[in-house]
Amino acid sequence: PARKPLAGRKAVVTSGPTHEAIDPVRYIANRSSGKQGHAIAAALAVAGADVTLVSGPVSLPDPTGVKVVRIETARQMLDAVQAALPADIAVCAAAVADWRVAAEAGQKLKKDGSGVIPDLKLSENPDILATISQKGPKRPDLVVGFAAETENVIEHARAKRARKGCDWILANDVAPSAGTFGGDHNEVFLISGADGASDEVWPRQGKAGVARALVQRISRHFA
Ligand code: C5P
Repeated sequence: PARKPLAGRKAVVTSGPTHEAIDPVRYIANRSSGKQGHAIAAALAVAGADVTLVSGPVSLPDPTGVKVVRIETARQMLDAVQAALPADIAVCAAAVADWRVAAEAGQKLKKDGSGVIPDLKLSENPDILATISQKGPKRPDLVVGFAAETENVIEHARAKRARKGCDWILANDVAPSAGTFGGDHNEVFLISGADGASDEVWPRQGKAGVARALVQRISRHFA
């Protein structure tokens, strides 16, 4: 059989939401099924990569042939990703909560009937994609992020690529009409350079298709 294109390459993938506790029973989270990140981890493994999938709480089976590290919070996700470095490839597909509750309550906050509403103070979570994109000995050769946009998809994604310092951005159209959230289909643009010359528009396809297309593109990058 032909040698697998990513044999000998190490990859780390983030997937799913993070949960940031308010108290022992409540949390803040983003909407994320984990379908895209899990599909990418699975496709990287099929291509021969040694894959660590760092996943927030999802109701998906572990992809075959992948090492799965389960976490809940953004800070745990960052720790797990850094523990998986060095790697050749990093793909950040998780929907990380931008903020956490500054002081998690040790007991369930009570609705006591007095009409007093809790005032949640928030702190900023680490940006995992931006952190691992920083120059340094452990920076992966190829760092790929996602952008979910509802308008001006390509312009916003290009700005995000520059701001985060990653190499590629896969931009999704998440306008409600596009039906991306929780759905099985994604329309994706690949932004791989600072100008428009290298932009790619991928045909509308399932998340497994997007994952295979990305892995093909990654394989070409390392060929
Ligand atoms: O600008 P925004 O945060 O929406 O960018 C999304 C990209 O950044 C995704 O690749 C997501 O996984 C990553 N991200 C991250 N850590 C955060 C926020 C976003 O890795 N705290």
